[in-house]
Amino acid sequence: MATQRGGFSSRLGFILAAAGSAVGLGNIWKFPFEVGQGGGAAFVMMYLFFCFVLCFPVMVAEIAIGRKTQLNPVGAFKALGYKNWAIVGYLGLASGVLILSFYNVVAAWAFGYFVEMLLGHFDIGSRFGEFTADWITVGSYSIIFMLGTAYVVSRGVSSGIEKAAKILMPTLFIMIVALIIYALTLPNAMEGIKFYLVPDFSKITGNVVYSALGQAFFSLSLGMGALITYGSYVSKNDNIVSSAASITLMDVGVATLAGLLIFPIVFFQANGDQEVLGGLLKGGEGLIFESLPAVFESLGSTLGVVIGALFFLLLSFAAFTSTISLLEVPTAYVVDQHKISRSKGTWLVAVFIFLVGIPSMLSAGAVDWLSNFITLEGAGDKSFMGFVALIASDTFLPLGGFLIAVFTAYVWKKENFNMEMANGDEEIRGSWLQSYVDIAIGYICPLLLGTIFIITVLDNFMGIKILEMVLG
Ligand code: TRP
Repeated sequence: MATQRGGFSSRLGFILAAAGSAVGLGNIWKFPFEVGQGGGAAFVMMYLFFCFVLCFPVMVAEIAIGRKTQLNPVGAFKALGYKNWAIVGYLGLASGVLILSFYNVVAAWAFGYFVEMLLGHFDIGSRFGEFTADWITVGSYSIIFMLGTAYVVSRGVSSGIEKAAKILMPTLFIMIVALIIYALTLPNAMEGIKFYLVPDFSKITGNVVYSALGQAFFSLSLGMGALITYGSYVSKNDNIVSSAASITLMDVGVATLAGLLIFPIVFFQANGDQEVLGGLLKGGEGLIFESLPAVFESLGSTLGVVIGALFFLLLSFAAFTSTISLLEVPTAYVVDQHKISRSKGTWLVAVFIFLVGIPSMLSAGAVDWLSNFITLEGAGDKSFMGFVALIASDTFLPLGGFLIAVFTAYVWKKENFNMEMANGDEEIRGSWLQSYVDIAIGYICPLLLGTIFIITVLDNFMGIKILEMVLG
């Protein structure tokens, strides 16, 4: 069985693949604009706090469930003897399919911008809306991106996923460091760093806490069994607690670095003009796509092309190791549960998800009714893509995480969880770290994740602004 499913060839291979899953658009595209909207360093502090205190234990639980059962999320709950809990696995599959369906579109934008930068089309920043509405171009890039993803996944765990991560992750790291060194030489860079690193705690509101928690969870690829799946390919002799710590550190590290890269650039561009600055920081989704190309242009045609292309290549690489993990989850499901060969399974799933993603692709300006898809009581106007993101990443993931924590602590039970944790790590037995993970999984995670799920539903779908009512 194990040989048939494949597995990671080394602990480092697993860590890099899982860190590759975690490091993605979430770190380099979403994190900086959330920091911008959340008031800077205060948001960063909350984010770091949640990554270590809340997310790290959930990550250990996911990896433990996967490694214990050596199965995909649906099979895992069944194999542990809890058939009804397989619903959590199905929820994870649904989340994975939905997230990949729109994530692949944003990845296609990143890749498209890489090509535009190579061609020296710096005005693409001011034509962001036009670009995303051009469904033939975006469609072509998203086919390319999905084909690349499916190719890697179809090659299997060690010669596909692990190999890609071993090449892409170090490259990504080198690119980001090189870009930061450059960004720090720009005028006004230090003001950007100050905004990013010196916290103003008066800026912490209920909403900041809430979005920092959601961001931490999404960024670490938790709540849908992606790490159950990757954990299922981990050797019984590996230390999963320290692996989870490394993965968390790498993800947090890259998000932190992304901020060091983006904020000097943003403050450089604003050039002391508070109004421009405010607009950029509150710019949300457009922060990277709309404002960066103009900055690259100001660097001159040669340097601008090099730095601009490098930046969007970096973004594409980060997205790529994440789309791989998102595709792997449903693929592992059809391979394990339906005995379909890996190569056939991968292509089937990839085509299906691509089709599911078509309305999202068309909802960024190409088709009117998809672009203005729905008006929600609390969340306001949403495009089809925005609506899918709201359901899958903002709603399903915390629910999935809540259920995984409750399952681990109270159904599978702490003793069994601790036994799996100690495989490959005898020293963890009875340590403070193990006690902490147990307490977090049993109390802190269910409480916080359950709360965030309820708030999301009340706030976005029903317009009950519970955070504002309670915290002001
Ligand atoms: N973590 C990735 C990012 O930050 C996205 C991602 C990949 C993901 N796989 C996931 C999110 C599984 C949740 C679950 O961009």
